[in-house]
This record gives sequence, C-alpha cells and structure tokens, in this order.
Amino acid sequence: MTVHFIGAGPGAPDLITLRGRDLIAASPVCLYAGSLVPEGVLAHCPPGCRIVNTAPLSLDAIIDEIAAAHAEGKDVARLHSGDLSVWSAMGEQLRRLRALGIPYDVTPGVPSFAAAAATLGAELTLPGVAQSVVLTRTSGRASPMPEGESLAAFAATGAVLAIHLSVHVLDRVMADLLPHYGADCPVAVVWRASWPDERVVRATLGTLQAALGAELERTALILVGRSLGAEDFAESRLYAGDYDRRYRPVGTHPRFPEQA
Ligand SMILES: C[S@@+](CC[C@H](N)C(=O)[O-])C[C@H]1O[C@@H](n2cnc3c(N)ncnc32)[C@H](O)[C@@H]1O
Repeated sequence: MTVHFIGAGPGAPDLITLRGRDLIAASPVCLYAGSLVPEGVLAHCPPGCRIVNTAPLSLDAIIDEIAAAHAEGKDVARLHSGDLSVWSAMGEQLRRLRALGIPYDVTPGVPSFAAAAATLGAELTLPGVAQSVVLTRTSGRASPMPEGESLAAFAATGAVLAIHLSVHVLDRVMADLLPHYGADCPVAVVWRASWPDERVVRATLGTLQAALGAELERTALILVGRSLGAEDFAESRLYAGDYDRRYRPVGTHPRFPEQA
C-alpha cells in the first residue's frame, strides 16, 4: 500500500502528468483538495473508487482516511493543485505518514506560475533582463512570512516575482513593488490560469489599479518584472551560430570536436 501524492496541475484536467493520471486510475481511494483541484481530474478514478473532498476536513481527519485505507491495504491517490513543492500542505502530511510508517511517493505537477506564464506566452528569464524567478506570497491569516522574506527584499533584487495568494491585498503589494521596479515596469495578473474562465490583465505597475476594476476571484497570480513583454533583449548565446558547444561543434578548432 502506498499513498501517492500527485500534483493535479493548475486547472485544465489535461495538464496532469501521465504518471499522475495512471496512479489515480490504479488507486481505489482518492483524496483531493477540492478548493482548487479540477473535478475533471477525478474522471481518471477507477469505478467504485472512494472519492473524498478534503477541503472541509482537518489534518487529523485526512490522516484518519489514509490510515483506514492503509489498514485495508488500499493505495491512495492524494491530489493537490499545481505542484506539491509549493503551498500544498504536503509537508505536514508526509511527517505524519513517516511517524505512522505509511509508505508514500510524490509525483510532480504543473505549477500555477508556469501555467500563468504559458497563458502570457512569456519566457520569464530573458538574457540580460532577468535570470531569476522568485515564487513568493504575502502574509496570510494562517501563514505569516518569515523574517527577511518581504516583497520589498525580493523586489530589491530586480528578479521576476510570481506572487501567489495575494491578489486580495493588491494595494499593499503595489506599495512594496513600486519603489524598486518603477511605475513603467510590466505586470500581469492571471486569474484561474488554464481554467475555462481564465482572465488576464496586463498593465504596468503605474496603471494596474485602474486596469483591474473590482475583481473578487482570489485564485490569481501576480507576475511582475522587466522580462514581461520585453522585446529588447539579447539572443541566447547557446544557439548563436558561432557558439562552440558539444552538440554543435563549430570553427576550425572546435573546443568540442565531433566524435567520429
Ligand atoms: C495554495 S496555493 C497552491 C499553489 C500550487 N501548489 C501551485 O503549484 O501553484 C494557491 C495559490 O496559487 C495560485 N494559483 C493556483 N492555481 C492557479 C491558477 N490556475 N491560476 C492562477 N493562480 C493560481 C493563486 O495565487 C492561489 O491563491
């Protein structure tokens, strides 16, 4: 018996890995975080599967469900939105399972920041413009930010920020970002990336508030940084015609001569 933690992706039911889909299909129990995991993913559950929405459950109740499946020798597919490495509450579940001696494995998923970037058709790391992406958030009622992880501190680096769980405090976010990026810096807000009701607003930090209007839906990402919409950037050296590399040796004396 194994508990399979599976990243269910950002929303579109076909944005799940083949491995994740097959594990769901092979597991007689499925626990899913109902607030964000798309119901379409549940179509992969086998007939007769016990399907439980864990959104209203406490951690204790979730572990009870898993322990009951363990006692019956039944595999569990445990679904969380996006990828499990960020804001999934997987860590505390794994710790409980380790203490109980219940085996588990982890299958990654498409994170929402990647889905939002895809919607924007954006490479976030453009040569000479930005080479780092910070996945971050602002303090929430249940999760204060650790000392030193402030938006202002990240903004001071000039990296692209993918700000989660924060669209409801946009005023505060803007106030932290503006002094570092400037009013002309591109910003995009993507609601429910990859869902049928996805919505996008592109603006600059100076014009975003006016462009947004009243928006209640919280499932949104704020992406900010100079690489968004940039056209004036250098091409990557990796693909330059004169760049000598192992897979494409060039010149009269290549550093990486072609193997015979
Ligand atoms: C609890 S976190 C889950 C993050 C998830 N594990 C991931 O890999 O993206 C929920 C937050 O992620 C962002 N998010 C999740 N799905 C999204 C989507 N489809 N479009 C835009 N933002 C999304 C929002 O900021 C939302 O408030």
